[in-house]
Amino acid sequence: MRIDILTLFPEMFEGPFSSSIIKRAIERSLIHIYVNNFRNYAYDRHKVVDDTPYGGGAGMVLKPEPIFEAVEGLLGKPYVKNTQKPVILLSPQGRIFDQKIARELSACERIVLICGHYEGTDERISQHLATDEISIGDYVLSGGEPAAIVMVDAIARLVPGVIDSLSASDDSFSRGLLEYPQYTRPASYRGYKVPEILLSGNHGEIEKWRKEQALKRTLIRRPDLLDKASLTKTEREAVEKLKETL
Ligand SMILES: C[S@@+](CC[C@H](N)C(=O)[O-])C[C@H]1O[C@@H](n2cnc3c(N)ncnc32)[C@H](O)[C@@H]1O
Repeated sequence: MRIDILTLFPEMFEGPFSSSIIKRAIERSLIHIYVNNFRNYAYDRHKVVDDTPYGGGAGMVLKPEPIFEAVEGLLGKPYVKNTQKPVILLSPQGRIFDQKIARELSACERIVLICGHYEGTDERISQHLATDEISIGDYVLSGGEPAAIVMVDAIARLVPGVIDSLSASDDSFSRGLLEYPQYTRPASYRGYKVPEILLSGNHGEIEKWRKEQALKRTLIRRPDLLDKASLTKTEREAVEKLKETL
């Protein structure tokens, strides 16, 4: 998979993409990430990419030309919107990023992420260039760069081969539930003990315990997820029973 990031601050990606899982995925050619400075597509001598808003108001707005031309430089001219090659504008006004969107995007051959900055981006970018607008949460960042890093991380771990697929399938949200609690050695630390069942070696019982814990944890911490989760009839019944004990 190839991910192109359009930004005015390429240096912000150096650390996050040169360590841990993303670094290994790049080294193994499982993902290819290109960070492009769209200032290079500005027309004038001073490489101006922003201007004051029409109608007045605070801050500067990113101009359409450098961003349109950067996308055309990557995807070809004339540019035709193609949802198979999503061009995503990072924006606090977009739909909220989640595991489902990460999974869908991990199946794409190519993605372009546009990072806004300052007061925002000219509306024509959202209307006529982007195929999608995505927010990473209901708060305002100074720029789209941290959002792009979050998205690339979540997408990359779902690309086949990047991490152990079993580990990804147990992760929180993969089935619409939070993950069960995890423990490692020592079995007792400062008197805090690991649940006996995990030391029993009985894999069937451990599996059962984990399923129940995932349901319980989701019910307590994120009951909103349960309505949409893909649960079996037995799991739904278990949730109803758990509700009575809480
Ligand atoms: C300061 S923000 C602009 C906010 C804009 N004035 C508004 O109220 O919608 C600058 C840029 O940061 C990025 N950004 C800010 N918050 C974001 C979020 N929650 N998710 C994704 N991108 C975000 C966007 O690219 C945005 O264009």
